[in-house]
Amino acid sequence: MDIVIRQAEPGEYETIGEITAQAYLQDGFLTFGGEDDWYFAELKDVAKRAADAEVLVAVHQDRILGGVTYVPDPGPMSDLAGPAEAEIRMLAVSHAARGRGAGEALVRACVDRARRAGRTRVVLCTQPAMTAAHRLYERQGFARRPDRDWQPIPGHDFTLLAYELTL
Ligand SMILES: CC(C)(COP(=O)(O)OP(=O)(O)OC[C@H]1O[C@@H](n2cnc3c(N)ncnc32)[C@H](O)[C@@H]1OP(=O)(O)O)[C@@H](O)C(=O)NCCC(=O)NCCS
Repeated sequence: MDIVIRQAEPGEYETIGEITAQAYLQDGFLTFGGEDDWYFAELKDVAKRAADAEVLVAVHQDRILGGVTYVPDPGPMSDLAGPAEAEIRMLAVSHAARGRGAGEALVRACVDRARRAGRTRVVLCTQPAMTAAHRLYERQGFARRPDRDWQPIPGHDFTLLAYELTL
């Protein structure tokens, strides 16, 4: 399938936000209660993340399949990245478009950007149940870094798993 990866345009932010939030919701990745989860609103807010990072979309024949946030440097949108590291966040592809390589192409585009920018590593966090994403990352050479796992919500036993690709 002919999939184009490019920077998202502001007119596409609403669709990307909806695809991302629904992907997490439908797959059961909103830990604290569906659409009421604070992260549901965060996933929908593409304008916010586009202000501090680069939002990329996967497009096929003018249809948006999914998106990802490429964070080039440590900053407001990074959870894990340290100096000289880039980060991948909020990867999602709509259910209807899965299994055709859109997810892989989005991750590859982030890695290419990091390599061109001279970053030493690409890092990311993922939930334990995101097994389709784990396979995708591992196929592209990412490795687990358990020593960088962390718990985003103080007082809750909810751990995010760290992955890292050395460039
Ligand atoms: C993870 C996610 C982005 C993957 O998106 P995707 O577009 O389906 O990814 P791909 O198509 O590249 O790969 C998915 C599968 O399709 C297969 N595939 C890819 N292209 C294919 C093709 N042309 N023909 C047949 N199979 C294909 C891949 O080998 C992979 O197989 P696997 O599940 O056995 O590992 C998607 O499942 C998603 O949005 N999940 C919910 C959100 C999430 O978990 N995000 C991760 C945040 S850390």
